[in-house]
Amino acid sequence: MNKYQNIVVLTGAGISAESGLATFRSSNGLWNNHRVEDVATIEAFQRNPAYVHDFYNELKPEILKSQPNSAHLSLTRLQHESSAKVSIITQNVDTLHEKAGSENIYHIHGQINQSVCLNCGYILESWNDINTETICPQCQTCGMMKPNIVFFGEALLYMDKVEKLLRNCDLFLSVGTSGVVFPTASFVQTAKYYGADTYEFNLEITSNNLFFDHHIVGKAGETLPNFVDNLLKKREN
Ligand code: OAD
Repeated sequence: MNKYQNIVVLTGAGISAESGLATFRSSNGLWNNHRVEDVATIEAFQRNPAYVHDFYNELKPEILKSQPNSAHLSLTRLQHESSAKVSIITQNVDTLHEKAGSENIYHIHGQINQSVCLNCGYILESWNDINTETICPQCQTCGMMKPNIVFFGEALLYMDKVEKLLRNCDLFLSVGTSGVVFPTASFVQTAKYYGADTYEFNLEITSNNLFFDHHIVGKAGETLPNFVDNLLKKREN
């Protein structure tokens, strides 16, 4: 364990699957029932904001009531019990890492419980429905709140910080992501280039496999706690 000082964990929808939340690209996934072009692009939002708001509003109750699973909890344990700095970069818009008690979380795709005012930039945090009549609490403009979710074509959040984390990490873990959305899919490459050991935790080996040193195949709720246990045991020995 002492071998590692800076651990970066990249998480995707697969880490929340065992909490009952749908992933994006599985046969019953979120994108299977919706066209990305209709709900996850800035053009779609400009064309039909009510439809886009409805899509995200409908996801909120289920996400709000979901609970972290053993994979989320194992990352919190790693943060609390290891001497390494552990940062979590998540593509997930749920808040299960927070609910699990983790810290140093970077929501590069935004959060479902936030909306941003396109007029003044104010970020409103709320699990209530947001719609085309919502008034910004800061500038009082009506109808300019957008879900604070990064749509296709928009820049990812926290990228300066993320780039630094990737360059400085000595252990990079990718958990439950298909690795098909760029630039996130290239994070492993950057971490590897700067010398990190790299692990993938997934139900299957993804196509991004060239840059992973190790593949741990199985449910993250089982494989990740085991891995964390072993890392922490190595520290004790
Ligand atoms: P995907 O749905 O593309 O991929 C989920 C991955 O998790 C797949 O590779 C599954 O094999 C794996 N998986 C499923 N259950 C698992 C389990 N129990 N344990 C381990 N792995 C499991 O989701 P993401 O990769 O997160 O962006 O998708 C990336 C982005 O694409 C999302 O953040 C979303 C979407 O467009 C936005 O909405 C902005």
